[in-house]
Amino acid sequence: MQNQAFAIAVDGPAGAGKSTIARLVARQLGFVYVDTGAMYRAIALYTLRRGISPQDEEAVSAAVPEAEITICYEEGIQKVLLNGEDVSEKIRREEVGKAASAVSAYPAVRAHLLGLQRSLAQTTNVIMDGRDIGTCVLPGAQAKVFLTASPRIRAMRRYKELKEKGEMCNLQEIEQDIIERDQKDMSRPIAPLKQAEDAVLIDSSDMGIDQVVSAIIGTAKSKGLMVR
Ligand code: DC
Repeated sequence: MQNQAFAIAVDGPAGAGKSTIARLVARQLGFVYVDTGAMYRAIALYTLRRGISPQDEEAVSAAVPEAEITICYEEGIQKVLLNGEDVSEKIRREEVGKAASAVSAYPAVRAHLLGLQRSLAQTTNVIMDGRDIGTCVLPGAQAKVFLTASPRIRAMRRYKELKEKGEMCNLQEIEQDIIERDQKDMSRPIAPLKQAEDAVLIDSSDMGIDQVVSAIIGTAKSKGLMVR
């Protein structure tokens, strides 16, 4: 697939800092940031609200066509609409994240979102993050990055985030959840989390945010992005 616009694909495991970094890169480059995890989370929220178990592939697949996901931008911030309702905040709960990991393994769910994801990158320069952007969604992306960090570091980042929000949490449980989520995302048969052959690996365990942002912008420039 040939993209008309410049696309930066950022894949990696949960808690690697993809969204924080991608948002900053987007701001610096004037790109649109597309958070595909939010779309899976919105489907997960829909099924939870309907009382459907995320483990029930048949019921989830049957319900998916009823969940219309749209994306809009308010002052550069992505909003996810589920059947017209802004669910951008509600999808951030841990319970929704876990359900998203389960439902994202189903072909019907992935097929439902693929067209939307690709269409967003057709005419606009984007930095899109997820698990399968470089491998499946935008295989023709000009720049691809696989962003990771050790499970302990990722758990610590999430722990800090939740504490700041005043949520009760336990570091060991978070680390365990992260390891299980990685396992699930990497081992599913369809669009598993994996580094694209032509992606640049960035391990952010010992890097500051600014360093990671510069590394991604450097990668994009090395792939032909012209920056004024
Ligand atoms: O990045 P996140 O935690 O918001 O993603 C939630 C879940 O969605 C994650 O466990 C895996 C799934 N996901 C996916 O399968 N493919 C994507 N491109 C993005 C997310």
